[in-house]
Amino acid sequence: MRVLHVVGARPNFMKAAPVHRALGTRGHDQLLVHTGQHYDARMSEIFFQELGIPDPDESLNVGSGSHAQQTATIMSRLEPVLLARQPDIVLVYGDVNSTVAAALVCSKIGIRIGHVEAGLRSFDRSMPEEINRLITDQLADVLFTPSIDGNENLCREGIPNERIFLVGNIMIDTLVRFLPKVDEVYARLRTDLSIGSFGLITLHRPSNVDSESTFLPMLEELDSLSESLPMLFPVHPRTRQNWSERLKECRPTLRMIDPLGYLEFLALQKHAAIVITDSGGIQEETTFLGTPCLTLRENTERPITVSMGTNVLIGHDWGLLRKHFYEALNHKKKAICVPPLWDGQTGERIAEILTRQASHDEPIVPPPASAIHSPQ
Ligand code: UD1
Repeated sequence: MRVLHVVGARPNFMKAAPVHRALGTRGHDQLLVHTGQHYDARMSEIFFQELGIPDPDESLNVGSGSHAQQTATIMSRLEPVLLARQPDIVLVYGDVNSTVAAALVCSKIGIRIGHVEAGLRSFDRSMPEEINRLITDQLADVLFTPSIDGNENLCREGIPNERIFLVGNIMIDTLVRFLPKVDEVYARLRTDLSIGSFGLITLHRPSNVDSESTFLPMLEELDSLSESLPMLFPVHPRTRQNWSERLKECRPTLRMIDPLGYLEFLALQKHAAIVITDSGGIQEETTFLGTPCLTLRENTERPITVSMGTNVLIGHDWGLLRKHFYEALNHKKKAICVPPLWDGQTGERIAEILTRQASHDEPIVPPPASAIHSPQ
């Protein structure tokens, strides 16, 4: 089987790595296309190096632009690659513009699509990622879900059950693989950054960082909280572009640093007293690590991190932020409750399903969603 993986933005790389490895051990022919949606070395190259992902076979170098420009450029540059390379299946990851662009191209030229991390829904169509998720899932031929809510959402949207496979959380595969290395990395970071107890912040969602009336009160609040707990804030390029001057006016206890590589960021997530974020993946990683996570969003497409994990949705309620911030500081870490199938074996399960489908050994009929216990 010839499998072509499409990746493009930072959160794709840690999802593609374990699937690529698992398919590689089964001897499949694999190709990697990097769309270039993320192109700074600290947003892209460092992840290839750290995660041991091979160099892309094709780089589309699309760069930045409006959503329409970025999506359209990926589509027009990807189409000839797919026509020339003729993969049996294209695997797309997550919910970024590269994901939906690749799914659209494949569906029009009749190439099978596998969507890894299917079925997640925030039910908020003002998020570009929600649109990407909805469209990609409608177009995909094989849908790999991280948790049972994903199966339920897809069934509700009329996706045939035989296309849906509950395989677990692919990001956790990479986390499990690299966790043994992070204490060593942390020891170096402690010295380099002179940190003791600290909080960790990431903010990049357009809904948080694009408007002055939302971002500035948020920044003031975080700046003020940093007097109680020093904070590290690796700043996403989007946030840096919008607010470079304003960020310099914060207290020294709110420290802006460049985006970090995978290992360094994982080390900080593991050892942080609190993580404050608007990222999707970080809600999942903190749940696995047992680190309190306060999410500055009104909703989440990852509700299992709230029902089972350490995540609390704060929205833009600064009273609620303070309440949970001080509670987390005083009560330390919650007991870890890891959702089912977040076990480091998701890539293997995906590779196994694809291999069996390719060999036509036997039809693979997943159990109905109702037969799989919902986590309480
Ligand atoms: C994208 C994804 C989001 C994901 C996030 C992780 C979509 C719709 N959004 O958001 O789901 O959580 O990546 O980072 O696909 N830029 C650089 N250097 C880079 C990349 C971007 O300077 O390497 C700048 C560009 O000027 C760009 C801005 O950051 O305009 C935003 O990048 P973009 O890829 O459009 O979206 P993200 O906000 O990163």
